[in-house]
Amino acid sequence: MSPECHQDQTSKNLPIGSRHYRAFVGPAEKYDLVSAMQFNLLTSLGLREHHFLLDIGCGSLRAGRLFIPYLSPGRYWGLEPEQWLIEDGIKNELGEDIIRIKQPVFSYDNNFTLSIFNREFDFILAQSIFSHAPEPQIKKCLSEAKKVMSPTSIFAATFVEGNQNYTGNEWVYPGCVTYTLEYMKNLVEDRSLTCKPIDWPHPNGQTWMVIVHPENEYNIPDLSVNRLSPVGSETGLHENRLPRMERHPYVRLGLTINRFTQRIKQWRR
Ligand SMILES: C[S@@+](CC[C@H](N)C(=O)[O-])C[C@H]1O[C@@H](n2cnc3c(N)ncnc32)[C@H](O)[C@@H]1O
Repeated sequence: MSPECHQDQTSKNLPIGSRHYRAFVGPAEKYDLVSAMQFNLLTSLGLREHHFLLDIGCGSLRAGRLFIPYLSPGRYWGLEPEQWLIEDGIKNELGEDIIRIKQPVFSYDNNFTLSIFNREFDFILAQSIFSHAPEPQIKKCLSEAKKVMSPTSIFAATFVEGNQNYTGNEWVYPGCVTYTLEYMKNLVEDRSLTCKPIDWPHPNGQTWMVIVHPENEYNIPDLSVNRLSPVGSETGLHENRLPRMERHPYVRLGLTINRFTQRIKQWRR
């Protein structure tokens, strides 16, 4: 076993929040799964390589390790106050060559100053951020997100849904805080944005929601087709974002038959 492999095995036993780039951001044994969950979700929501993505609280690039190679140069932007996490993520997961080729952009701001990037993003991600954040930070993050969202931007975020709303003012870590869905919706709507919970599985039981400008609400892709396979629909895309050729009636018919066949296979299992 190589020294790297050995290190990887031992990280799996470390408690969440330990000073190891994999354990600090969550259960180390699910590091790969949480990477895949985020990548699959955003590509299912329509992320393509030319889009600009902002990863809020990007940590050790658990998601960035897949998004950075996939996106075109200069399209991945990450905000993370713990600089060492990004450095260790690059060292252990990506390597300097990918960074040189893909030119991701990072900010180490710890006050959710998304406008520091001075540009709009097609997609924004906040995975396991609102699950630790007090209300003032969530409000700041949402207000800042609005400044960097175009009318068609999609902001995907998780939170831990519960019966109680956290009323403290501190970031809680590695523990989690809870909010009701109603409360979260109100925080979003107070900023003239709208949000919808989505049925996307999370290995740590968090709830995914999609935040958009109200006029974009009906363009949120229907993710139910993606539940047919862990990767996504057979094209990995959604009809309203399908390339022109795949909008052709015969191609659409083919896709429908394909979906139907997959569903039958699933029922038989
Ligand atoms: C549970 S981890 C999730 C990391 C990453 N989103 C992922 O899925 O791997 C929470 C992250 O939020 C970061 N964080 C803490 N305070 C923050 C702040 N004020 N702004 C942005 N990120 C923050 C932590 O350093 C940590 O990397």
